[in-house]
Formats: sequence, structure tokens, C-alpha cells
Amino acid sequence: MSKVVFSGIQPSGNLHIGNYIGALNQWVKMQDSTESIFCIVDLHAITVPQDPVQLKEKVLEVAALYLACGIDPKKSHIFVQSENPNHTSLAWILNTITPFGQLERMTQFKDKSEKHEANAGLFDYPVLMAADILLYQTDEVPVGQDQKQHLELTRDLAEKFNSKFGQTFKLPVPVISKEAARIMSLQNPDNKMSKSDTNSLATIYLLDSEDQIREKIKKAVTDSGSQISRDASSEGLSNLLVIYSALKDWDLNKTYDEVEGKSYGEFKNLLADLVVLHLSKIQKKYHEIRSDEKALRQVLGEGRDFAIEKSSQTLQSVKEKVGLV
Ligand code: TYM
Repeated sequence: MSKVVFSGIQPSGNLHIGNYIGALNQWVKMQDSTESIFCIVDLHAITVPQDPVQLKEKVLEVAALYLACGIDPKKSHIFVQSENPNHTSLAWILNTITPFGQLERMTQFKDKSEKHEANAGLFDYPVLMAADILLYQTDEVPVGQDQKQHLELTRDLAEKFNSKFGQTFKLPVPVISKEAARIMSLQNPDNKMSKSDTNSLATIYLLDSEDQIREKIKKAVTDSGSQISRDASSEGLSNLLVIYSALKDWDLNKTYDEVEGKSYGEFKNLLADLVVLHLSKIQKKYHEIRSDEKALRQVLGEGRDFAIEKSSQTLQSVKEKVGLV
């Protein structure tokens, strides 16, 4: 039987090349050889304030972007989290074995609760994420580095449930790429690139125009050096080199072989050409897919039916084990 892969992205804000390089791009590569399930996690998105009209639009936008980036509905299942009520049911049951202290230690909760009013949903976010993953007996979860702690909690909860109630959940393994798991802000390379950055130059969005992409790369913070050298790359420059390598689909060493000795300006032009080329292909497909809403909804409908059926098996077994009728 092939491995089960599960992952998701929140339809909050606009997807950026960090999401693409850290997550989506890996998903595309994995879908050929696995049973892949990709979710649009709208219930996670509402843990911070969302405009309801915009949220509905964003769900479809993210679905269309999944497809435009290469997720093939013939190979993968794509669905919207809130359309499968099994996620919240399992999350509630997992809540009852989740230590409060462990949730308090989640760095994403600490960061987000500084920026937003801390509600119970934000606190409980990682438990819903554990439910997402465990419902499908998932083997592998391709994510960026920032989700590692949530995956550790997921594994802890699965082990705890299994030892308390008998073998029920598979232990999922995070798949985190070595170099590209943490794409940094173009303006402050100490921070990761994020959907919610207030500095508009910090993030390259998948739907940015050519001019926006070129401007952002041109103004990306590097260091006072002038020529690319293997031994002296600052964080800002390394980040650009990692983006270049990921889009070329080769490792950092090969990028150095190609660009060592070039001026920063020359390299930035090469990078801008590459990002523009790559994103323009995605955008072209995106506009085609987004303009046929009926077909898009059909993909999501099939994904939902599959997700409900597959996850019901796990939920049923969980309910029996804990004594729910
Ligand atoms: P979200 O929506 O914040 O991010 C989606 C995916 O993109 C990755 N990512 C990055 N990778 C590299 N560099 C970056 N700067 C960068 N920013 C984001 C994230 O690691 C993630 O893989 N909690 C999750 C969504 C989720 C989920 C799940 C994921 C809910 N349930 C179950 C996997 C399995 C999140 O907030 O992702």
C-alpha cells in the first residue's frame, strides 16, 4: 500500500514563495508515489480575525493555486477542512488528552497571541492540526520548519492515545526540506517570510506582478559586499541563493558553481528573471482554473467525499475506544 501524505495551508492572506518552496513544491513531487491529501485549513484561518466575504474567496483562490502549482486532482485529493466535520470531532477528543502546559509552549501561539487577542481557538490550533493529520493514518507531512513543533505535538498525542486506548493512530513523520524549509523575509532576513508581514517589500506573493517581483528582489536586503563568494554569504544573500536553488530544483552548491564571482546586482537580475518566469507560468494556469469555478468546486466536492469517507474509519475506531456511542 502506498504511503499517505497529508498537508495543508491556511487561506489567510496571500500565498507566497515561502509557502511554495517550503510546502507546495514538495507536495507536487510526492503526489506521484503516494496517496496525497491536501487540505485548505479554513478552520485554522479563523483563529485570527478574517473578513467573511474575503475568506470565502481566499478558499477558492488557495484551491486554484494548489492546482496551478501542479497538484493534480487525478493524483491527489483536495478539500476544504470545514467541509469535513470529522476534524473538529477528533480535535475535541484529542483535547481531553492534551496537556495544557504543552500548548502553552507552542512558539506559534506565543507569537500570534502577541499580535492578536488570544482566543481559545488560537490556543487549541495545534490540536486541530493533530486531528487533521491523524484522521487519515498519515505517514508523511511535508511542511516548512515552522510547523515542526506542531508535528512533535501530533506524534506525542498519537503515542499517548495509542498507549492509553490501544493502537489507533499511525505516527506521522514530518518531511522538512534541508535547505528550503525556512524562506526568510526579503527585508529582515532574521524573520521568516510571512503572509502577514506589514512591510510590502518583505514577501513575494505567488500572484505578484512582474514589476512587483523585480522591485522586491532589487530592494532585498543583503550586506555591504559586492561579489558572491561561497565563504562569505550573509543571511540575506543566502536566502536569495536558496530561493534560486529551489526554483532551479538543484542544491545550493550548484547555484554557487553558477553564480560565484558575479556581482550582487547581476545575481539579483538572474533571480528576478527566474522568479518572474516561474510565477508567470503558475499565474497563467491560476487564471484559467479560477475562471472555471464549477470545475474547481467539483474537485473540492470529490475531495470532500473522499476525505469524509477515509477519516470516518479512524474517527469511528476512536469513538469506540473512548466509549462514545
Ligand atoms: P501556513 O498556512 O502558515 O503555511 C503553509 C505551509 O507553508 C510553510 N511555510 C514556509 N515554508 C518555508 N518558508 C517560509 N517562510 C514559510 N512560511 C510558511 C509552512 O511550514 C506550511 O507547511 N498550521 C499550518 C497549516 C496546517 C497543516 C495541517 C499543515 C493545518 N493543519 C496539517 C500540515 C498538516 C500552517 O499554519 O501553515
